[in-house]
Amino acid sequence: MTAAIALHRVSKSYRNGAVAPPVLRQLDLEIATGTFAVLFGRSGSGKSTLLNIIAGIDPPDAGTVRIAGTDLGTLREPALTLFRRRHIGFIFQSFNLLPTLTVAENVLLPLQLNGVVRGGADPLGARRIAALLERLGLADRHAAFPEELSGGERQRVAIARALVHQPDVVLADEPTGNLDLETGRQVITLLDDLVRDAGVTLVMATHSHEVIGRADRELQIRDGRIAAVSR
Ligand SMILES: Nc1ncnc2c1ncn2[C@@H]1O[C@H](COP(=O)(O)OP(=O)(O)OP(=O)(O)O)[C@@H](O)[C@H]1O
Ligand SMILES: [Mg+2]
Repeated sequence: MTAAIALHRVSKSYRNGAVAPPVLRQLDLEIATGTFAVLFGRSGSGKSTLLNIIAGIDPPDAGTVRIAGTDLGTLREPALTLFRRRHIGFIFQSFNLLPTLTVAENVLLPLQLNGVVRGGADPLGARRIAALLERLGLADRHAAFPEELSGGERQRVAIARALVHQPDVVLADEPTGNLDLETGRQVITLLDDLVRDAGVTLVMATHSHEVIGRADRELQIRDGRIAAVSR
C-alpha cells in the first residue's frame, strides 16, 4: 500500500547571514495510512520545520516529499495550494487565526476555500462546525472574535479549523502546549478518535510523555534525522 507520508533524503537549512546550519540532513521517513505518530526532540531540533515540509508549506532544499503517492515537488502553484487544502489539516504552534473573523467564520474558512460551502448559511457547513465546536467545548463561543478568547480556546478553534474539511493527513505542532491537562486530554482523544474511526494519518509534535505513550509510532528527531523509530 502507498504510504500516507514518504520522505526521501530530505534536507533543509535556513540561511542566517552567511551561515546555513542544516536543520534536516537527508532525512528518510515513511508513515503508513491510519497511523498516529508523535515527533519529539529538543527545542530547535527541527520538528516544526519537518511538519512544514510534510505540509508543503516550506519546500525542502533537496529530497522528495510524497503525500498519498503525490510528489509535492512536481506540483506548481496553484496546484500545491489546492492539494494542501484538500488533503492536509495543519494545527499550528501559533494559532494563525484571522482576527477579523469570528470563531465560526474562522472554522468555516477551509470549507469555503475548498468550495464545499459558499457562505455561513450553508446547512452542511453550519452542522459540521456546530458539531466540531461542541466536541471541543466551544459551543457557546461561535460568535466570539479570537482576541476575546483565552489561549486554550484559540488553540481549540485552530484545531476545529484544521479538521473541518476532513483531511486525510493531520499535522499538529504541539497542539496541547497551551491547554490545561484535562482539555489537553480531550483534544488528544478527539485526534486519536479521528485516526481510529476515520483512518486519518496524524503526526503530532509534542513534549508530553503522556501523549507519546498513546501513539502508534514514536519518532525522535536528532541531528537532522529520525534517530529512534519505535514500532
Ligand atoms: N524561518 C527561519 N529562519 C531561520 N531559522 C529558522 C527558521 N525557522 C526555524 N529556524 C531554525 O531552525 C531550527 C529548527 O527550528 P524548528 O522551529 O523546526 O524547531 P522545533 O523542533 O520545532 O523547536 P521547538 O520545540 O522550540 O518548537 C532552529 O535552530 C531554528 O532557529
Ligand atoms: Mg516547533
